[in-house]
Amino acid sequence: MSLPAQQNTIHIEALRKSYNEQASGDVRYIIKDVNLVIKGGEFFILLGPSGCGKSTLLNIIAGFVSKSGGHLRIDDVEVKEPGKDRAVVFQQADSSLFPWLTVRENVEFGLRMKKTPKPERRRISDSFIGLVGLTGHENKFPKELSGGMKQRVQLARVLAGDPAILLMDEPFGALDAMTRRTMQKELIRIWRETNKTVIFVTHDIQEALLLGQRIGIMSVGPSSNITDIYDNPLSFPRDEASPEFGELYNQIQSHFAR
Ligand SMILES: Nc1ncnc2c1ncn2[C@@H]1O[C@H](COP(=O)(O)OP(=O)(O)O)[C@@H](O)[C@H]1O
Ligand SMILES: [Mg+2]
Repeated sequence: MSLPAQQNTIHIEALRKSYNEQASGDVRYIIKDVNLVIKGGEFFILLGPSGCGKSTLLNIIAGFVSKSGGHLRIDDVEVKEPGKDRAVVFQQADSSLFPWLTVRENVEFGLRMKKTPKPERRRISDSFIGLVGLTGHENKFPKELSGGMKQRVQLARVLAGDPAILLMDEPFGALDAMTRRTMQKELIRIWRETNKTVIFVTHDIQEALLLGQRIGIMSVGPSSNITDIYDNPLSFPRDEASPEFGELYNQIQSHFAR
């Protein structure tokens, strides 16, 4: 079970990252002076142009990439490495699914590693395969699935590990528009059912507004940081044709235009 929602608060203070710290001469910071608090259970969006450092920041939170300075804490604990409280969903499911395993075996992979007994594994995989709408496809292999279905398998596998914090790096960026829309709706449903903290990276304003409770805007790099945070109080499911949605869209778009 996840910890209560009020826990798992992510505190980021004066965070910075350079990939050439050891180099002589000027250090080039990718991100610098990033300050952010994300509350447990929140759906937070990181929005910014391509190359500004969104993946770098997400991978630092995941513990995959080391920070060059500043602090990253989850509740009171400084984070330095990956942990089972966090899991990442990447843009390309292909690179994260094992092609020689079926849908069910892929979803159960982490549970096998943890030596979860078979009946329990089966119960958990059934439940998450159902949650992402793949019941009936359990015995298929990745090559028999569409891009959207593979992305669902990746999501089910991550959810089966029951991380309190879901880190999503443009997870629907490679999907066609209709599949993307379906996945966005399902993600919201899953988030509301499971009460997880979600940090979702996108460069798409509409996607940001459909999903996020708060939207953190990252500036163009180098030395990118979070310059503004917009609240999105609209209730779910959100209607992109509503005047309120359009108003928020224009606000954020004008932010990038200036
Ligand atoms: N491992 C790395 N070594 C050197 N530079 C990197 C590395 N990873 C990313 N960068 C650079 O950091 C910047 C931000 O990249 P990234 O975090 O992937 O941006 P985004 O996800 O916003 O597109 C880019 O200029 C990229 O070239
Ligand atoms: Mg990226």
